[in-house]
Amino acid sequence: SQELINKLEETIENFPDFPIPGIQFKDISPIFLNPKLYEEVIADLTAFSKGKVDAVCGIESRGYLFGIAIAVALEVPFILIRKKGKLPPPIISEKYDLEYGSAEIETREGHIKKGQRILIHDDLLATGGTTEAAAKLVEKQGATVSQFSFLIGLKDLKGEEKLKKFGADVYSILEY
Ligand code: PRP
Ligand code: MG
Repeated sequence: SQELINKLEETIENFPDFPIPGIQFKDISPIFLNPKLYEEVIADLTAFSKGKVDAVCGIESRGYLFGIAIAVALEVPFILIRKKGKLPPPIISEKYDLEYGSAEIETREGHIKKGQRILIHDDLLATGGTTEAAAKLVEKQGATVSQFSFLIGLKDLKGEEKLKKFGADVYSILEY
């Protein structure tokens, strides 16, 4: 709702040129100082996915902040997509380019089940590299990406275009 958008815009702090010049960093941590606001965020993201997914994949680390709560509210499994080297084998992995630098993400083999409809959740859609890699991990497991949800989508970076090929619904509460 517009009311939720307004509250979030008042709460999220903007830091130009952090961590490097040209990047506008949005600090979401003040949201967690306000449990009522946090509950409203979860209710909004849960409403988007209700009845439409069999499991939620959250991306380390900020994708966990809302992702687990969404999965619990939907009463579906939550699957951790982690940064390289954190999970024991057998794992599935995928390399990707980041807004700054490059990285690799991994998930435990077998946690995502064949045929499941998956919500991929993260706090931020920027270039879309992270989320695209997560979606490839999901498809490698024989599951379908049905939805992507974010707290924030940065339109200018055209992340949504990278996600089109998965044919899933995309939702961001805030768009810049
Ligand atoms: C940030 C953000 C998203 C990703 C978005 O995570 O939380 O996961 O970058 O960027 P992209 O769309 O260009 O791929 P980061 O890797 O900084 O790590 P963190 O979540 O652990 O803070
Ligand atoms: Mg992240």
